[in-house]
Amino acid sequence: QGPLPTTFTDAETGIVFNSWGISNESTQTRGGFNFGVALPSDGLTVDSDEFIGYLECSSKDATNTGWCGVSLGGPMTNSLLLTAWPNGEDIYTSFRYASGYAMPDVYTGNAQLTQISSRINSTHFTLVFRCQNCLRWDRFGELGGAATSTGFMLLGWVQANPSPGNPTCPDQITLEQHDNGMGIFGAVLDENAANPSYTAWAALATKTVT
Ligand code: HEM
Repeated sequence: QGPLPTTFTDAETGIVFNSWGISNESTQTRGGFNFGVALPSDGLTVDSDEFIGYLECSSKDATNTGWCGVSLGGPMTNSLLLTAWPNGEDIYTSFRYASGYAMPDVYTGNAQLTQISSRINSTHFTLVFRCQNCLRWDRFGELGGAATSTGFMLLGWVQANPSPGNPTCPDQITLEQHDNGMGIFGAVLDENAANPSYTAWAALATKTVT
């Protein structure tokens, strides 16, 4: 996907996102992938440590509903990773951190995800969420983060076809190496990324799935 954002409004919540997607027809990933970001009203002048995210991932079939993830720093390693997968009526998530290209560890910092809405159908699962303490991370003193005031984020994405093992225990999921595409992309934030309604939208985040 290109770095320039597409702005769209999520019909269910009215939240306006800058997004970077890969279309369904792309050879990079079966089913397509889309990630969006909304920032607090001052998020383009002051580095925000939180955002509202939009994650739309694909499922192969009823048994392989899959998982997907984003790296909030770009590479898989030394970045806060967010992993998401559908199970039953819910989308589960797990923050992870990897120092090498192997199964990432549970992230031990204070990142917190609260759900605003989720949708699951036979081909896709979509999560709209508030992510607090997600743009500045600390892993045993190893610091990192995104600087939203620069108007730019480096992000990574992955998708996988097989569902995680232990799907209802986020700290104990087992994953196979992602097999449905991956990449690092530069994400330019334009003026639509930051919105005065952010506080009202963030207040819609009331659901935790654990
Ligand atoms: C890339 C392994 C889980 C995010 C890679 C690569 C390997 C790997 C070997 C490099 C492949 C290449 O360059 O050809 C694994 C294994 C996993 C795992 C064995 C678990 C068993 C995850 C998870 C996430 C993730 C949970 C995020 C939530 C990424 C991203 C890339 C990547 C964004 C592309 C950027 C980069 O090369 O650093 N992974 N991965 N991975 N992985 Fe993973």
